[in-house]
Amino acid sequence: MSSTSFIDLRSDTVTKPTAEMRQAMFEAEVGDDVYGDDPTVLKLQDMAAKLLGKQAALFVPSGTMANLICVLNHCSQFGSEMILGDESHIHLFEQGGCSTLGRVHLRTVPTQQDGTLRIQDIEQRIRTVKDDAHFPRTKLVCLENTHNRMGGKVLTVEYIQSVGQLCQQYGIKLHMDGARLMNAAVELDVDPAVLVECCDSVSLCLSKGLAAPMGSLIAGTEEFIREARRLRKVLGGGLRQVGIVAAAGIVALTQMPKLLKLDHQHAKLLAQGLAKLPGCKIDPEKDVQTNIVFFEIDSQKIQIDASAVAQSLEVEHGILIGVSGKWKCRLLTHYMITKENVEYVLEQMKTVFEKNRI
Ligand SMILES: Cc1ncc(COP(=O)(O)O)c(C=O)c1O
Repeated sequence: MSSTSFIDLRSDTVTKPTAEMRQAMFEAEVGDDVYGDDPTVLKLQDMAAKLLGKQAALFVPSGTMANLICVLNHCSQFGSEMILGDESHIHLFEQGGCSTLGRVHLRTVPTQQDGTLRIQDIEQRIRTVKDDAHFPRTKLVCLENTHNRMGGKVLTVEYIQSVGQLCQQYGIKLHMDGARLMNAAVELDVDPAVLVECCDSVSLCLSKGLAAPMGSLIAGTEEFIREARRLRKVLGGGLRQVGIVAAAGIVALTQMPKLLKLDHQHAKLLAQGLAKLPGCKIDPEKDVQTNIVFFEIDSQKIQIDASAVAQSLEVEHGILIGVSGKWKCRLLTHYMITKENVEYVLEQMKTVFEKNRI
C-alpha cells in the first residue's frame, strides 16, 4: 500500500497543501524576509494582526518556536517564572525549551478535563512576596486553546477573560498557545480577536487543520513583535524568500477556517460510532468538541492494547491512528478525511475489536 492511500488520522499536521495553496506558492512574490522585504510575508503578517486584533504579527517556522519566542519575550528578566497547565503542549511536548534555552522556571497547575486551569490554582501560585531572594518572579500565565491533550477542548471567551483579569490584577502577562485557535473560534462561532482580546500574546499554527505546509504566527503589540523578531533570528528562524510558504499561509487563513466545522462534525460522527463498540470507552457528547478524538480500550473486554490496535489498523486496513498510552488512542479529523473515510474507519475498527474480544 502506498503512503498516499492510507487514511491518516494520527494528527491534523499530516494535512497536505491544497491545490490553491500550491498555485499561490508557485506565483508568490518574494524578497529577503530577514531584511523585511518579502511582500507576501508582510501581507500574511498584516492579515494575522487584523484577524487576531493585535497591533502586529510575525511569521515563524513552527508552533514550538512561536511559543518559545513569546515565553522568552515575556520572561526576559533573569529568574522569571511562568504558570501553565501540567498537560499543556508547552510543558509536555516542546522539549522543555522554555527552561533549557530560556532559563524560565515552569510552575504547573493541574489541567482540568475541559482544558481550563482553575482560577484559584493559578492565583495560589502567583508569587506575591516582592524582593524575597528565595523566589523566582511570576511573569506569565499560559493557556492553550483548543487544548490538545484534553481532546481538543475549547476555552470560552468568559473563561479567558477571567484569567486575563487575574493577570491584570497581579501585573503579569497572559500568553495563548492558539495552535488550534481557529478550531475554537469556529466551534464557538466567535471572532478570534475576541477570543484573545485579553491576551498579551498569541501563537497560531498554519500547518495543522489549516493545512499549510509550515509556519506559525505570533501576534501582540508592535514593541512585543519587534523583540520577537530579534528572538526569532537568534533561534535560527529568520528565513529568506519565505514568501513561498507564506503564500500558502494566506490561503490557509482565508480558505480553510470555514472547513473546520466539517472536521468537527466528522470527529463527532467518529466518536458516536466508536461509543457503540463494546470495549471502546468514549463519551461523544462530553469528550469531543472539535477535531480531536481520544478513546480508551477496556482491557477487561479487549485483549490487545492501543499499540496493537494501531498496528492491526495500519497493516490490515490501511488506517493510521495515534497511540497516547497503553490503552489510549488518538484520532484527528482534518480536511483530507471525508465522511466515507469515517464510515470505513468505523467498520474496520469494529472488525478489529470483534476479533479481539475477550
Ligand atoms: C497545542 C499545540 N501547541 C504547539 C504545538 C507545536 O507546533 P509545531 O509542531 O509546529 O512546533 C502543537 C503541535 O502539535 C500543539 O498541538
